[in-house]
Amino acid sequence: MARLLVAGATRPVLNRLPGLPCGVEIWRDEWKAFGDRSRNFLFRCHKPGGGVVLEAETHSLEGEIMKIVVVGGTGLIGQKLIPLLQEQGHTTVSASPRSGVNAVTGEGLAECLAGADIVVDVSNSPSFADEEVRNFFDRSTRNLLAAEQQAGVKHHIALSVVGADGMPESGYMRAKVLQEKLIEAGGIPYTIVRATQFYEFVGTILGANTRDDGIRLPSAMFQPVAAMDVAKSLAEVVGTPPRQGIANLAGPDAMPMDQFARRYLTLMKSPQVVITDPAATYFGMPLAERSLVPDRAEWLGELALEEWGAGQ
Ligand SMILES: NC(=O)c1ccc[n+]([C@@H]2O[C@H](COP(=O)([O-])OP(=O)(O)OC[C@H]3O[C@@H](n4cnc5c(N)ncnc54)[C@H](OP(=O)(O)O)[C@@H]3O)[C@@H](O)[C@H]2O)c1
Repeated sequence: MARLLVAGATRPVLNRLPGLPCGVEIWRDEWKAFGDRSRNFLFRCHKPGGGVVLEAETHSLEGEIMKIVVVGGTGLIGQKLIPLLQEQGHTTVSASPRSGVNAVTGEGLAECLAGADIVVDVSNSPSFADEEVRNFFDRSTRNLLAAEQQAGVKHHIALSVVGADGMPESGYMRAKVLQEKLIEAGGIPYTIVRATQFYEFVGTILGANTRDDGIRLPSAMFQPVAAMDVAKSLAEVVGTPPRQGIANLAGPDAMPMDQFARRYLTLMKSPQVVITDPAATYFGMPLAERSLVPDRAEWLGELALEEWGAGQ
């Protein structure tokens, strides 16, 4: 019997596959383990007169085909997310200044949101200066939510930072909390995914803490995650109803930041030295033991640091 893998097809696509005779019977569907995050459909296709002509398998999230606007689609997360959404069969639009859409000024928003079902906001401020980052998330979020009201968007998904509300000394974290509050009050059904620091961002953190004698870091807990795992979690959220709340995503391993940095430097074959320094800060902000790690994570990324490093 023929076995066909129809990667990336959703149930509606499946039912409309050209050349399939009538009578598609989905005879088994199952959630795979977290690692796959996909729904598997095994189905048989019957001839009108009886007899199975085809057995086929899809793997994709179940659901409708939707128009999904990814704000910040050219960024680190956006570039990984868009192909995952397309594999699920969705129509995607990347919205950012490079494609003529500016969430801060509102330019191009109404046009690109027309007919959209979901907006995923993975944009980021070009400047991290307190006033500018606040202005970025304030204006972009207000403009997006207003345009989403007009367009009838059914789910606003935004990416924030684990523990953002516990770090008021940081202008960046204050701006992320403002973004979250605007979303919560904005009237569009929403899900906020708070992620820990990305592996891709660890080099920047170490750079900011580099002094003449080495890299000075505290031993506060740290649980970074691969950007690809962040994109996978967002792609999963797209296929589920709005949570009207916040869900945390962290990396597979939690360990003190200084230890993690040594592991990272070994991976990068760097001769730099890490000095454990309880007074060292995170971008000027003092860290408590668990400032950067979630008490409870809805998702744990799969990629360990070394596996991620092997793919770089
Ligand atoms: N870095 C981390 O460790 C970390 C951890 C947790 C959460 N996060 C969150 O993850 C999100 C995404 O971060 P990222 O590192 O993937 O970002 P990124 O790579 O810096 O990408 C930023 C994106 O925002 C777009 N953008 C800039 N100005 C815009 C505007 N006015 N209107 C619309 N789009 C605009 C850029 O578009 P152009 O290319 O067109 O300029 C780009 O696509 C951020 O919200 C951040 O808070 C980050």
